[in-house]
Amino acid sequence: MPKPVRYAVFPVAGLGTRLLPATKTMPKEMLTIVDRPLIQYAVDEAREAGIERLVFITGRGKASLVDYFDMAYELEKTMEERGKSKEPLAPSRAGFGELLTVRQQEPLGLGHAIWCARHITGDEPFAVLLPDDLMVGKPGALKQMMAAYEEHGGNIVCAQDVPREKTSSYGIVEPGESANGATEVKGMVEKPVPEDAPSTLGIVGRYILQPEVMDELSAHEKGAGGEIQLTDAMAKLIGKQPFHAVAVDAVRHDCGTKAGFALANLALGMDDPEVAPRLKEWLARNG
Ligand code: G1P
Repeated sequence: MPKPVRYAVFPVAGLGTRLLPATKTMPKEMLTIVDRPLIQYAVDEAREAGIERLVFITGRGKASLVDYFDMAYELEKTMEERGKSKEPLAPSRAGFGELLTVRQQEPLGLGHAIWCARHITGDEPFAVLLPDDLMVGKPGALKQMMAAYEEHGGNIVCAQDVPREKTSSYGIVEPGESANGATEVKGMVEKPVPEDAPSTLGIVGRYILQPEVMDELSAHEKGAGGEIQLTDAMAKLIGKQPFHAVAVDAVRHDCGTKAGFALANLALGMDDPEVAPRLKEWLARNG
């Protein structure tokens, strides 16, 4: 049995410039999809997969993310006095010691953000969830990946087929043999132009990684866009440790873009019994 994955790292230091002006004073991870902030979906998915410790890589202006998972004393006391149920608040309360935070002082890339967690994750494997990639599946994407991890161990990335003209937005996998939804990873490259992409198998924002990736990240080598890339560090583990790309049964919404964000609200609204009837009525008239 591979070592259990207890830590999940959430890089949440990004500036969210593609969603301005909404993100001027509000972290993009706190923007709402139907009735809860984006970060809540990623945290729920991690907890469902058995994660015990949530590691947020934050930055300046991101304090509301940490407050959100704290106790809201005045609010809770008032709700209690008014006889209101506190049940809607339950998922937003972190257990004692469940949430750990580190600041990434400079935006040096996703790889650098993950490396900032090295003193917390130590010699344990860990998951990475990019909250921008909202994954809707039952069970959740990370839980599905955990099943593959139990079978193969090593490193697992979540991968989906992407349009050839979009390869330069993703880490792209060079695939080897496939069995039961898990494809051996022979190589990977960050954001290649379509002509140079080894396939159209794109990495989406879920990873299970071995601690050795931190050693590779320590080199601080700059890659695509002049940033320290997680993909480059992961590529160095290929051949040394098992490495698989796993296809999950889940729909991905790219909430880093306006259109993806609006679509996520629509798709999840259609799944909400309180919201769906009004949406359907509106769509029937205007859609
Ligand atoms: C990051 C990763 C990339 C991955 C993508 C998934 O890129 O660097 O490999 O395919 O997330 O969303 P970003 O979207 O942060 O530029």
